Amino acid sequence: MTDSGAVATATAARAAGRQARVARRLGASPFLAEPLRALGYDSREVWGWDMYEAAVLAFAAHCRQAARHEDGLVRLLEIGGGRRPLLTPEQARAAGIAFTVNDISARELAFGPPEFARAEFDVAGAVDPALFGRHDLIVSRMVMEHVRDASRAWANMAALLAPGGVALAFHPTLYAPPFVINRLIPETLTAPALKYFFADRHDGDFPKFPARYDLCRADPAVVEPALSRAGFREVLTAPFWGDRYFRHLPGIREAGDALSSLAERRDWRLLASYAYTIGRR
Ligand SMILES: C[S@@+](CC[C@H](N)C(=O)[O-])C[C@H]1O[C@@H](n2cnc3c(N)ncnc32)[C@H](O)[C@@H]1O
Repeated sequence: MTDSGAVATATAARAAGRQARVARRLGASPFLAEPLRALGYDSREVWGWDMYEAAVLAFAAHCRQAARHEDGLVRLLEIGGGRRPLLTPEQARAAGIAFTVNDISARELAFGPPEFARAEFDVAGAVDPALFGRHDLIVSRMVMEHVRDASRAWANMAALLAPGGVALAFHPTLYAPPFVINRLIPETLTAPALKYFFADRHDGDFPKFPARYDLCRADPAVVEPALSRAGFREVLTAPFWGDRYFRHLPGIREAGDALSSLAERRDWRLLASYAYTIGRR
């Protein structure tokens, strides 16, 4: 075999290996996996960020196909949507979504689009029972790491869903190094560092909220029993590896990328950086 032939064979083998790993990761629930499969989920952190909005729309369409809607509208509740919900009012209208934005902070909600319904409550606190069973899809992005009691938050989300409804949370996971550092070091030190690396994350624009990472794990052995206890009959963890926190630090950046790549190949869930955690009531 020529050198270029050998390289092509090795590249094809690597791609096939990755595809097989990705398929295995989606094996726990064919129903919950379908929208991710259709969008080309590939376990890379950048995919998790770039495709979340598309994933939310795909899950809304999936709920509709599974007859999980009311009078043609998929009732979507975004937890911690605050001032910048995941969809615009135009997108929600076009997709047949009745959108409600939740947040613990009245101030954050007040900055949001007036077209959406608002629900101010702590997802891990006492939730008005009048809201129970009234949602087809519950989504969140970068919220679950901030809640004090994730088991209670997931139980509340199960109660807020109608039977057959789906909850989808996109969150960072332990023990990826940037999040271990964030959890161990006091907020007074990490807030300025975050501001340095991501210039828009500061009070008055996008404030930094204390991170706790309760149940923010990419290991199904940890997540599935917890969500079953919370009231979900099907659970899927879609892990992502890689992060961009050290992108301005040569040397550390390459070492971090190499570790993430090895962890992905070995399916080391303890070193995943993010996950979509998904449950079906
Ligand atoms: C990091 S921001 C993310 C905002 C938005 N989801 C995004 O991706 O840009 C976290 C949001 O969650 C809200 N939040 C934090 N804890 C919450 C809780 N227990 N219940 C509801 N919302 C919460 C905060 O007020 C804030 O708006």
